[in-house]
Parts: sequence; C-alpha cells; structure tokens
Amino acid sequence: MCGIIGYCGPRPAAEVLLDGLKRLEYRGYDSAGICVDGEDGGLHTYKRTGKIADLRAIVPDDAAGGWGIGHTRWATHGEVNDINAHPHSDDTGKVTLVHNGIIENYIPLKERLIADGHRFVSDTDSEVIAHLIADLYQGDLEKAVREAIFLLKGTYGIAVVHADEPGKVVGARNGSPLVVGVGEGEMFLASDVTPMLAYTKQVIYLNDGEMVSITRDGHVTSDSSERRITKEVHEIGWELEQIEKHGFPFFMEKEIHEQPASVERAISGRINLDGATGHLGGLNMSARDLLGVDNVGIVAAGTSYYAGMVGAYLLESVARIKSSAELSSEVRYKNPIVTPGSLYFAVSQSGETIDTLYALRELQRKGGKVLGVCNVVGSTIARESDGGVYIHSGPEIAVASTKAFTSQISVFYIFTLLMARMRHMSWEAGIDFAKALKHIPSQIETILGQTEPIRRLAKKYARYQNFLFLGRGINYPVAMEGALKLKEISYIHAEGYSAAEIKHGPIALINEQTPSLFLVSDDSLREKVITSMKEVKARRGRVIAVAVEGDEEVADIADDYLYIPHTEELMYPFLMVVPLQLFAYYCALELGRNVDQPRNLAKSVTVE
Ligand code: F6R
Repeated sequence: MCGIIGYCGPRPAAEVLLDGLKRLEYRGYDSAGICVDGEDGGLHTYKRTGKIADLRAIVPDDAAGGWGIGHTRWATHGEVNDINAHPHSDDTGKVTLVHNGIIENYIPLKERLIADGHRFVSDTDSEVIAHLIADLYQGDLEKAVREAIFLLKGTYGIAVVHADEPGKVVGARNGSPLVVGVGEGEMFLASDVTPMLAYTKQVIYLNDGEMVSITRDGHVTSDSSERRITKEVHEIGWELEQIEKHGFPFFMEKEIHEQPASVERAISGRINLDGATGHLGGLNMSARDLLGVDNVGIVAAGTSYYAGMVGAYLLESVARIKSSAELSSEVRYKNPIVTPGSLYFAVSQSGETIDTLYALRELQRKGGKVLGVCNVVGSTIARESDGGVYIHSGPEIAVASTKAFTSQISVFYIFTLLMARMRHMSWEAGIDFAKALKHIPSQIETILGQTEPIRRLAKKYARYQNFLFLGRGINYPVAMEGALKLKEISYIHAEGYSAAEIKHGPIALINEQTPSLFLVSDDSLREKVITSMKEVKARRGRVIAVAVEGDEEVADIADDYLYIPHTEELMYPFLMVVPLQLFAYYCALELGRNVDQPRNLAKSVTVE
C-alpha cells in the first residue's frame, strides 16, 4: 500500500526510479511521482494522477541526475489529484520526501507549523513531515529526520532528500516496510525488494525505529537511540524473471497457472512418507511442545483469512485440536485471551499486512507464541514471529491473491498431518492423507488444462450483478474466497455463505437475476448441499455447480456445472478454488477490467 523508492548511484536516477515504481505499482496506483536532481544542481519533482506510464510521459528525457526518490500512491488522506501525489516538499522546496503510512497527529502538527509561517499546498498527512524536517533542519538531514520522527504518531516508511545534501537519501521506518538494496557503487531504498532485483540481490531489512542514510558509496544504519548499527545483509531468493508476465496478459492468470508448481514447492520436503507425517523445519518447537498444544488460533486478513479458516477446520476435525481463525483486524482490539497451551499462526502473503502484524504483536505481548505463515522472505511478520513456515509461492504480483491461498492451505495440511499423527491418527490414515496431498499438484494441472468451459461460463454470467457462492464444511471458506475473487476484480457483487445458512436470510435475495454458485464435493455433506440447491431452484434461482467428475445428479439439477477431479473428502479446497479463481478472472476479462490493478485496491495493506 503505497510504494516508495530511493536511489543513489551512477545510473540515470529517473530511469531507475520509474522502472522501480513500475515494479511497485501493485502497492497503489492512484498517482505517482519522482524527485531527482537536475543539471542545475536543484531538485526537480514530477508527479501526476494515474499510472506510472502517465508519469513517465511528463518526465523529460534529460532528467538524468544520479539520485532521487519516488512514490506510487494508494490514497488515504486527501483525494486523488496531482497536488496530493507524492513527493511532497516544504515551502522552500529544499526538503522533499515520499511517505507510506498514516500520520495520526498531523492536524496539530500542521496547525503549529502554519502558525510558524509554513504554507501547505496538499491535503495529505505526509506533507507535514516535509515541513517538520525543514523546520528542524540545521545542516544535518539525518538529525532533522530523527528529530521530526520523534514528534510523529502513526506509521511511516519515508525517503527524504535535501537540496543542500546532494547524493544522499535518508530513510526511516515505523510500521511501514523499508528495505535497503546494496549494489556495487550504488544503493537503493524501497518498500520491498522487487524494484532492486534488476540491480542487486543483497538487501538489508530495516526494523521499526531504525533509520538509514544512503549515498552511492554505502549506507549508515542507526537505531532509535541514535546508535550506529551493523545490519545483516541478506541474499534475495527471487529471480528477476519471476516478476515478469511470460506471455500471459495478466499476472493473475500467470499466477493461477503457477499453482501446480507452487503447491509442489509448498509441500516438497515436508512430507515424510516413511513416518506418514509432516515435517516443518521452522516451527522452533520440540515434539513435546507440539504435544502440549491444545488450542490453535489463526489470525489473518482477506484471502489469507479464508486460508486460515481452512486450516482451522482441518486442525479441529482431523488433528482434534480446538482451532479457530479470526480476522486479524479484530483480534487486537478484543483483548484476546491467551492460554498456556495456545499456539497462534499469523498468515500473510506479503508479511506486511499491518492488521495481522498488530494482532501478532498483541498476542505476543500476552505471552502467546505466534508462528508466521508468509510468502515474502524477510518480511516484517516473518521476522517478528516466533518461528514459522515460508510458503515459497514465489512473487505474487497481481493484487488478487491466488497461488498464495493454495500454498497457505498446503502448509496447514502438512501441519495437520504432523499434529494428527502425534495424537490419534494411524499410520495408514496418515499415508492416505499424505498421498492425497501429494497428488494435488497434478490434479490442479488437470483443471488448468481444461479452462474453456470455465471461460464459456464466465461469458454467460459476467453481466449478472449479484452472486451467491455457497459451500459447506471445508468448502465454506472456499465459497467465501470465490466470492471475494469475483467482487474484487470484476466488481460484481458476490457473497460467500455456508449453503446451510441461506435459509436464515440470504434466500430472500434469490430470483432469476441472482445466480448461486454451489460447491458440491462427494463428501458427507453432499446430500445437504443438494437440498440447498433444490431450495434455490424451487425459487427460480439459477444454479451453477462445481461438482465432482461424474456427479450426474448435480448436473441434472444445476443450470450449468463444471466438473473437477475426485479427491479425498478434506482435500477439495485445492480443487474447488481453482475454477473459482478462473471464473472471476474470465468474468473480469469479459467486462474489460484491469485484472491486475482493480479499482481502489492495492496489495500489501500497510495501513490500519
Ligand atoms: C485478496 C487479497 C487480500 C489479501 C489481504 C491479506 O485477493 O489479496 O484480501 O489476501 O489483504 O494480505 P496478506 O496475505 O499479504 O496479509
């Protein structure tokens, strides 16, 4: 949510910043801007509403300075317009900065600065930081930034330049991510590693309260008590080619098609067939610790929350451990009860979602042990958790999450196997579970090999304005995820419900114009789901079913159906979700939506 970047080095800074912003664009695309030094020795800011391509059009070809900062915005304070676009400067134009986060006390600060003679031009909270730094500046940018952030309440990742200190970018973080890229004779600063991949794989992750100052020759990092610190340099595990589209029109389609491989990576090396159990290296827990767990709490947001619901269902029904998934945004404020036998998971693709990070910290403060289930290596949640598991999906660029979901649930299947085998699950049952899981990547491949019926279905239904997605048992969270996918990228209103729940209210919505998409697996709840389908049909509702290959009864009842391969009862979320991802994708294409950058959204939600 908002992407920031800074660069110092021999390359034309404007090019590096614009290319970097293109990589960061998934974090926000309301407006964008850069500030670079010009041949006249002054700082030049270019910014405008719209995409990076629009910004590129107004940056002169000869804007070839060697240092600068850039920003791609997801608006919080102040409407989307050119003036509110970052970078922001003080009124002398000497201090310029980009900011990701929210400054909660900006109004009193702004009032005080106005009383002191500062003139503001934007409606943003961010501009106040530029004025504050200018106010405190006495020839030392690091010092002024340090003094300024001391006065701020809220979250920030900032990159700041000063016209009198050429060739230097100062960064500071509190609650919004900031990564330093260490190149040869050049240095980078950004919200995540994607804009650096083309130049360096050496990175430093800043923690809250830390600051950095970069020049082309190196960097200086310091902590909140002004002590200089030496930070570990990490190697990025991602390749540049992983963040390219490779012939797919949208990242989302590419990422959907990557799932056979990404699920394979998530489970690979984590199933022990000899012992019929799971193995997760990063848990930092002994077998005895794991045996003592009598309650699992999963905290997450959005798609990760639905993956967490699948995890909680599995752990309770298979491993027989009391488990629940909760929205991380609610956990922090409900004064959660943490008991000695509780174990928590914070699930987050980006590892930066602030709601989930705050829930993690609150649970830790109460003595809870929190494990991270993250995709982005070195992300804040991954670093702050007490252990955890990387899902190894590879970069997920599309704003709508797809491959992260199937990899997140993969981790919960492995963890369930591990916990269940330590309790009552027999070796034979463990083998069956493990084998079914190992078979999933090839079954996803089968579904991805037959996308034409899903495309046809989307063509037929894309112009309906309301949908219900209905499933039961372990497919209930998948119904919610299917509805979320449809609404976020096609803007069609969709609600996910337990199929049993419709008679408690939503059935009032049923008419010919509101199709219901049912998930019908061949499990113990199949008959009950079919009953719900019939209830919808009896009210002239249109029914679409995702059912198991050969289920003729469902095919007869439904107006339209898609078949998926048969698997074990609890494995269906993997196979049910893929057609739903594709259905949402094709509906969005049909309606001409910008699939990778849906309106109002951004990936990695780093504000509360
Ligand atoms: C949905 C989507 C969001 C994220 C949510 C959590 O397609 O992308 O709902 O799932 O913002 O993000 P992470 O997993 O990064 O914590």
